[in-house]
Amino acid sequence: MELQAIIEKRQSIRHYLEGGIPDADLEDIIKAAATAPSGKNTQNWHFIAIKNRKVIQRIADAISEKNESICLEMDKVDKEKADRFRKFCKNFTVFWRDTAPAIILTMATVYVPSGYNEYKLIGAEQELLLDLMGYRNPGMQSVGAACENLTLKAIDLGYGTCWLTSANYAAAEIEQILKEEIGFEKDGYFFVNMFAIGLPQANQKSPAKKALEEVYTLVK
Ligand SMILES: Cc1cc2nc3c(=O)[nH]c(=O)nc-3n(C[C@H](O)[C@H](O)[C@H](O)COP(=O)(O)O)c2cc1C
Repeated sequence: MELQAIIEKRQSIRHYLEGGIPDADLEDIIKAAATAPSGKNTQNWHFIAIKNRKVIQRIADAISEKNESICLEMDKVDKEKADRFRKFCKNFTVFWRDTAPAIILTMATVYVPSGYNEYKLIGAEQELLLDLMGYRNPGMQSVGAACENLTLKAIDLGYGTCWLTSANYAAAEIEQILKEEIGFEKDGYFFVNMFAIGLPQANQKSPAKKALEEVYTLVK
């Protein structure tokens, strides 16, 4: 497919048709992700594609349980907000549990940006260090580039994905499951996001994008 057509076709897909994903397609998708640029070419990512229903269910259960444990505490403070968070979890965090033929988990390492160690050496304030590492976070920018490649290649092969960070509050539980189920332990790597992937159902809605003049400034 032409790049422009793929870009225009991209939308978050949360409803899937029946049908699996051949391993070869997953491999092509991850190859595309891993071709992305990264700060100092660190390639600070590792992708885990999971087709095994038992492992997918275990991850979904862990997220739902974590959500409920947070909601039970929220109930004591604001029942309405707790119920909203429960609903959000069902519709936007674990919607894929029975329908997506695969999920892809992105693991990443911390990238120490230029200036960070130098600032540290000269005793810079914590706020400055947080500014470089946290707010501007080049490491996550690299992972974002890889994830967009992943998304676009999936469309090229006829699939739809939904990029998810809303399960990140269950990161520790997910990492533990990865350790137990597949023995994934790669030094310094932590869970940063996941994708649900499958053959897209037609007519899925996406919110409107901002007008170009709101997000673009041209200086001539
Ligand atoms: C970093 C990131 C995190 C996201 N997290 C979630 C999520 O947890 N659950 C979900 O359903 N969608 C998630 N999305 C999808 C966005 O909601 C979606 O991209 C946005 O609403 C625009 O819709 P579109 O992708 O259809 O254009 C995420 C997207 C990005 C890029």
